[in-house]
Amino acid sequence: MFDYDAAFSRNLGWVTQAEQAILRNKRIAIAGLGGVGGSHLLTLTRLGIGSFRIADFDHFEIQNFNRQAGASVTHLGQAKADVMATMARDINPELDIVTFPAGVDADNLDDFLDGVDLYVDSLDFFALDIRNRVFGACADKGIPAVTAAPLGMGAALLVFTAQSMSYEEYFRMAGHDADEQALRFMLGLAPARLQMNYLADDTRVDFNAKKGPSTPMACELCAGFAGTYALKILLNRGPVPVAPRGIHFDAYRNKLSTTWRPGGNNNPLQRLGLAVARRLVMANSEVPPADDDSLATPIERVLDYARWAPSGDNEQPWQFELGDERCAVIHTHDTRDWCVYDLDGSSSQIAIGALLETLDIAASAAGMAARVERRPDTPEDKLVFDVSLEEQPGIAASPLLPFVRTRVTQRKPFTTTPLTLSQKAMLESSVGDGYSVIWLEGSQRRSVARLLFDNAHIRLSTPEAWEVHRQNIEWGVRFSADRLPEHALGADLLTRRIMRWALASWGRVKFLNRFFAGTWLPRLQMDLLTGLKCGAHFVIVAEQPLVSVDDYIAGGRALQRFWLEATRQNLQFQPEMTPLIFSRYAAQGSQFTAVESEQRRAAELGERLDTLLGSDQDASRRVFMGRVGFGEAPRSRSVRKALSALLKK
Ligand SMILES: Cc1cc2nc3c(=O)[nH]c(=O)nc-3n(C[C@H](O)[C@H](O)[C@H](O)COP(=O)(O)O)c2cc1C
Repeated sequence: MFDYDAAFSRNLGWVTQAEQAILRNKRIAIAGLGGVGGSHLLTLTRLGIGSFRIADFDHFEIQNFNRQAGASVTHLGQAKADVMATMARDINPELDIVTFPAGVDADNLDDFLDGVDLYVDSLDFFALDIRNRVFGACADKGIPAVTAAPLGMGAALLVFTAQSMSYEEYFRMAGHDADEQALRFMLGLAPARLQMNYLADDTRVDFNAKKGPSTPMACELCAGFAGTYALKILLNRGPVPVAPRGIHFDAYRNKLSTTWRPGGNNNPLQRLGLAVARRLVMANSEVPPADDDSLATPIERVLDYARWAPSGDNEQPWQFELGDERCAVIHTHDTRDWCVYDLDGSSSQIAIGALLETLDIAASAAGMAARVERRPDTPEDKLVFDVSLEEQPGIAASPLLPFVRTRVTQRKPFTTTPLTLSQKAMLESSVGDGYSVIWLEGSQRRSVARLLFDNAHIRLSTPEAWEVHRQNIEWGVRFSADRLPEHALGADLLTRRIMRWALASWGRVKFLNRFFAGTWLPRLQMDLLTGLKCGAHFVIVAEQPLVSVDDYIAGGRALQRFWLEATRQNLQFQPEMTPLIFSRYAAQGSQFTAVESEQRRAAELGERLDTLLGSDQDASRRVFMGRVGFGEAPRSRSVRKALSALLKK
């Protein structure tokens, strides 16, 4: 049934019949059958190569599914070498294929490379020791060696032959520890570093755990690259760029770069690149704490989602008292005694609403409904809720659940691409009955940006706000469990340095404001620019005035649905609550600052906000204000206190 000539006849034209016969007689060794190795084997088999020696000691597991040719449900737990040999034989049953299911090592290296015409490297990125040995042996035996590395959404190719620099001459690994060798390998593979500027979440690069992200597209590009150069080398077809030359193609950036680094990693350009890379790795070594996945009961699992609800300044004004496995009591407190943004407790109540909404969403995913009752006898600033989870057959799991942990505040500029009509419609319906959304977009953004800029004057010139900022920023970090991390503030390094200096004493703020227009720099960056750079500003408004604690809690629920829906639509999001808060204080006649001029400013800003939002829109119905738009996800964020730290002792 199988016929070699027929099976590979469609290669003819790009190769001659004589060349196809030559390929049939070639032997290729492939070490590593994971991300790239599996694709290499199948591609080279389809090219009509007749003989392989393949090595891998690993078994397929679920984490391989995104990119490895042999990774599938059928093959879970099976040896990669066996699976890949079977898949290749399914394409060419006449294959001469020898497997090394214990992997390649110093003892079997000679056997592995026996009679081999070409080595195609596919070892794990961090398998640096054995890679050094295999390349060394190839050089000794005069076997050409190709490595195609999947990088981002592209591939970088290096070829070592008897005429080229050797692997060691190029990478200069000897005498360096494993971390440095990994850096050297990375930079040597891709001197053009085309993949570097679109890494979306650098916390996924974990040099310590020897783990990095990888895409299926890159693996397939590698197979295409390596297959092509295998053909050229095996058939002596024209020039092949050999080390210290390399090729890097990045499909994401639509860029091709041919590089030339005489001296390899000793080249001055490479040394500079290495120095920068070392610094970057050090700077990026901070990763958010891992979640606790040893949660035993349904209520613990639901609360573990709920704790990701947003709260002003990441205050998390709640504690949990566990009952039986489906019950808990939630004890809350507001921050009116010290936080100028929460003088009537409503900011905390909105956050509590977001917490309760998240509880519902998480319960629905477990096929349950969360019954929540507020204890009527508890004081307004210390609300207590009884929660019980009830089985609810047929309840639909909320589509918002996957976004509970990824919902985040982005305080940097977004793009100005407007939201589409359907996006706005979905956001408008997410708030639910009793609420609507006012959009401020297009040219209105300018007026909002000016309003925010002026409003920020209040934040930066009143001792009451200074006191809050002093407490709620954690300096020098990317991730903070109970405050705002410095890097999430949305200001550049200079501004952050000035802010940090000024926040040490009120005298310094006064000095800066008096002699150096100290509020300008932060206000320009954190309010005016961001006010302009977004798709739209929004205000969620209620049909009825917000009067009671329950009104604010219900508003917080609507906000959380809206924010999660925005996250589901891949929109960036930042609350802009202080204009609402200060203007509400002014309208209620509550004295929030001892600085008279700023108290007056709040009243004046309230009038401007009224004009912007339309005269029929009364201030007491405004729940939440913010901005949304397309843009990059933040690299720094507030994380949360662990569930264990939130349990009431
Ligand atoms: C009621 C409320 C008011 C907030 N006000 C602001 C604000 O005015 N400006 C801002 O940048 N973030 C604001 N936030 C966002 C919080 O700082 C943020 O949710 C919290 O630090 C947790 O971070 P995360 O949203 O990135 O998880 C507010 C959040 C809530 C719930």
